[in-house]
Amino acid sequence: MKKLIFTIFGSTGDLTSRKLLPAISKLYKENKIPKETLVVCLGRKSFDDNRAYLKYMDDAASKKLDLDILKDIVIYHQMQITESNDYDTLKEMLEKHKDQDTKELYYLAVGPELFFDVSKNINQSGMVQKNNINQSIIFEKPFGHDLKSAKSINQRLWDFFDEKQIFRIDHYLGKEMIQNILMVRFANRIFEDIWYNRTIKNVKIIVKETEGILNRGGYYDQSGALKDMVQSHLLQMVSLVAMEVPLSYYSEDVKNEKVKVLDHITVDEKSLIFGQYHGYMHEEKVEENSDTETFVFLKAFVNTPRFKGVPFYLMTGKKLDKKESVIIIEFEETSEQRKWNLPLSTNKLFIKIAPEDGVGLRFNSKVPGLSDDVQEVELEYCAACEAFGNMSEAYEKLLLDATGQHKSLFTRWDEIELSWKLIDQIKKHQDKPVIYESFDALKVLIKEKMDVDMS
Ligand code: BG6
Repeated sequence: MKKLIFTIFGSTGDLTSRKLLPAISKLYKENKIPKETLVVCLGRKSFDDNRAYLKYMDDAASKKLDLDILKDIVIYHQMQITESNDYDTLKEMLEKHKDQDTKELYYLAVGPELFFDVSKNINQSGMVQKNNINQSIIFEKPFGHDLKSAKSINQRLWDFFDEKQIFRIDHYLGKEMIQNILMVRFANRIFEDIWYNRTIKNVKIIVKETEGILNRGGYYDQSGALKDMVQSHLLQMVSLVAMEVPLSYYSEDVKNEKVKVLDHITVDEKSLIFGQYHGYMHEEKVEENSDTETFVFLKAFVNTPRFKGVPFYLMTGKKLDKKESVIIIEFEETSEQRKWNLPLSTNKLFIKIAPEDGVGLRFNSKVPGLSDDVQEVELEYCAACEAFGNMSEAYEKLLLDATGQHKSLFTRWDEIELSWKLIDQIKKHQDKPVIYESFDALKVLIKEKMDVDMS
């Protein structure tokens, strides 16, 4: 690949400023993508020139953008992406820049309600030909807003693009430690041999954030934590933790096993807890008296021979006590431990996704010295420390994989379909959220209701 063109739809949004532009400039700086890379940013807003666009994005970004790089590779193109006539000038412009060798990625950083119209316009303008493997189209999550809408989008997409050209993003799959789950599970005898319901007591999947909804009220109020986080990130983590050994580590074989997990999840509807942070209703573009949840807790089961009976506790929310994404596998007590009847801890494996990336293993050990006391200690592996401050961000990995046509870290349609099926079922049991001012109150509620400690 000599030339690369990224065309971003929704390029004045939050995702483009916070994730896509930083990822592209880093890949470019590290020579992971061609010198001849062009980033075409499309939007309705009018800017005097590319510089003005970049200045606007720099102001919106959480960290400073690498303008030295971006100024040379970004073009802002004003258009109405739902207007089919506007695609003629876009096509003309792109054609001036590309040749036969060019890899083209079209990134839809827009809501799912626009997926169909934009895809149709891209296809019918002749910009992208069905089956041309040098032209790929990437869909940001959420893919649909329920099973019906997702199915309808997907079905119609296949008229325009071949599945090989379609990349459905779940950025958690690009995170270092999520990529590492299968390695930890299947390349370590000590874990492989105990990865069963006989030895695993429960699994906790926790994604806590301290931020609120930022300026995404328009999207978030229609979505909520269940659709925004559980449908995608948390269920993907469940599938990686619970899947069987795949036939091979090629994308399709791994997905075949993940899908079996997603097809065997049931949720204990009595366990559901929905929360909304205090002040949410005053956020911009949030409806007055909105019932949208910014927190969700649930207990699920994966009804496969390997995991039958093991509770999976899933929890995610905004404005909580800390930013933390972690998977905790808790193991059963040993038979000796049961006999002794002492207040000893159980073994726990922590797969730490954020803010640190790493693995921790907690076990019991004698307190050194003359006493016979026992304490819980932790063995720790810090992946981020090994990367010497150069840990790649999820979007870097995913964009790079898309340029190389590697699909392992993208979701296949049946994964999305089964996830939505589950979310639709949960939605039927959704209650009004409790208003929370801090995580403490939620912790107590979970403990009282489900007798589980999620702190
Ligand atoms: C996104 C959600 O998919 O993930 C956001 O739409 C959420 O609401 C974000 O804040 C969390 O991602 P990360 O990488 O910060 O854990």
